[in-house]
Amino acid sequence: MPSMASTLRLQPLLAAIGYLFLGTADAQCSAGEPCHHMPIIHSTNEKILSKRAVEVQLTNRTDIAYYTALNIGTPAQQVYVQLDTGSFELWVNPTCSTLSASDKAFCDATGSYNKSLSSTATSLKSGKKLAYGLGETNITYVEDSIALPGASEAMTQVQFGVSDSSSDEFAGILGIGYGKGYTTTYPNFVDQLALQNQTSVKAFSVGLGSKTEQEGAIVFGGVDTSKFAGKLETLDIVPAADSPDGVPRYWVSMNNMSLTPPSGVTKTYANTSIDVFFDTGATLTLLPAAVANAIGEDFGAAEADASGYYNVDCSLASIDGTVNFEFGGLTVKVPYNEFIRTTRSGSTTTCVLGITASDSFTLLGDTFLRSAYGEFLSSSFRLTLVLVPSNTKTVH
Ligand SMILES: *[C@@H]1O[C@H](CO)[C@@H](O)[C@H](O)[C@H]1NC(C)=O
Ligand SMILES: *[C@@H]1O[C@H](CO)[C@@H](O)[C@H](O)[C@H]1NC(C)=O
Ligand SMILES: *[C@@H]1O[C@H](CO)[C@@H](O)[C@H](O)[C@H]1NC(C)=O
Ligand SMILES: *[C@@H]1O[C@H](CO)[C@@H](O)[C@H](O)[C@H]1NC(C)=O
Ligand SMILES: *[C@@H]1O[C@H](CO)[C@@H](O)[C@H](O)[C@H]1NC(C)=O
Ligand SMILES: *[C@@H]1O[C@H](CO)[C@@H](O)[C@H](O)[C@H]1NC(C)=O
Repeated sequence: MPSMASTLRLQPLLAAIGYLFLGTADAQCSAGEPCHHMPIIHSTNEKILSKRAVEVQLTNRTDIAYYTALNIGTPAQQVYVQLDTGSFELWVNPTCSTLSASDKAFCDATGSYNKSLSSTATSLKSGKKLAYGLGETNITYVEDSIALPGASEAMTQVQFGVSDSSSDEFAGILGIGYGKGYTTTYPNFVDQLALQNQTSVKAFSVGLGSKTEQEGAIVFGGVDTSKFAGKLETLDIVPAADSPDGVPRYWVSMNNMSLTPPSGVTKTYANTSIDVFFDTGATLTLLPAAVANAIGEDFGAAEADASGYYNVDCSLASIDGTVNFEFGGLTVKVPYNEFIRTTRSGSTTTCVLGITASDSFTLLGDTFLRSAYGEFLSSSFRLTLVLVPSNTKTVH
């Protein structure tokens, strides 16, 4: 969900929302209470992860968005925030009251933060408006302690936003894109993890996990070797000045896209040598209309419907075949069953492709990222991205 960009964050996916609270049972959750358990998993590979790297398990299987818990203030107040590589700032306390009933229930359950109840909170008085592809929020900045669940100590004096009012947002957002010196005037959450020695490098990696794995992990400061097979390939980040929107993001150059149907005969799509960026905050992958239509046609949906969806036969989700994204020496093959989104509404099941058309903005959202593992590294001078297919079946 990039800020200030015309992207869709598609909403008619409420069926998926219920899953957020169906995580594994946990002693911290009282019986019957809405509760989402995201245990910290410590690294099994000390060589790769720094000793203090923290790993947060993402929510089980919402394919609508991915969340992580944060403990804010003293004593800690737990809130859930949406993990978003497409934006840069952390804010909490969405306005739930103006949402539809089911969104409101979800929103209320993500928790809120009250700075009056924290002995370490400082109000900064300044604020701003943050606008997203869908929705916006007006925030006032606060500084307080923030801990990732399971971290041995909290970071102190971390600047973030507390919403005064928001529209069309049903959780706070943890923007983990570039921070100070790029897109913010203050150290953002990822900057602070490194500044306060919670991570040894300014880096994080995300494996959303396939639908069958039904769990993902974000690792701040390292990689989770259990989440992928194969070698990490380094891709160069396209400098902001050369990127499609001029904003520092995880832009990389894609060589081409292709389709490998069950017949095994691969077809390459024209005009797919384009810059794309990786956005955990976007449900769908956005591609130029000509490309999206060409892919739609191959799945039997020559045109998108009025909502921008390519409706396809659900049986396609259970056949072998991949949609391939090629970068440098790496091909990420997204299996049909990950590429096709299944939505259930009552007894009706409908299927749409995980893409939509956008001529202004191209990004690889969750429908792509579920089949990849990305490590996002940044330092003052060099920015690289490392990706591998997470699905062993598709590594070659
Ligand atoms: C969440 O993951 C756990 C462990 O894999 C599994 O037992 C549980 O059924 C999952 N919950 C949902 C809603 O998928
Ligand atoms: C925040 O906490 C203060 C102090 O207990 C309380 O007066 C106030 O109503 C709380 N605010 C909200 C929005 O709950
Ligand atoms: C944010 O503030 C602006 C300017 O005051 C206002 O126009 C807008 O409606 C506010 N947005 C929300 C969601 O409250
Ligand atoms: C982080 O580690 C560096 C190098 O060891 C040290 O100089 C710095 O004071 C530490 N910062 C904090 C907040 O502990
Ligand atoms: C796709 O990109 C790869 C890597 O650059 C290249 O080898 C291949 O020929 C390209 N395919 C087409 C059809 O351009
Ligand atoms: C590819 O782009 C070129 C230049 O814009 C255009 O002429 C051509 O029709 C496009 N091809 C397809 C298959 O969309």
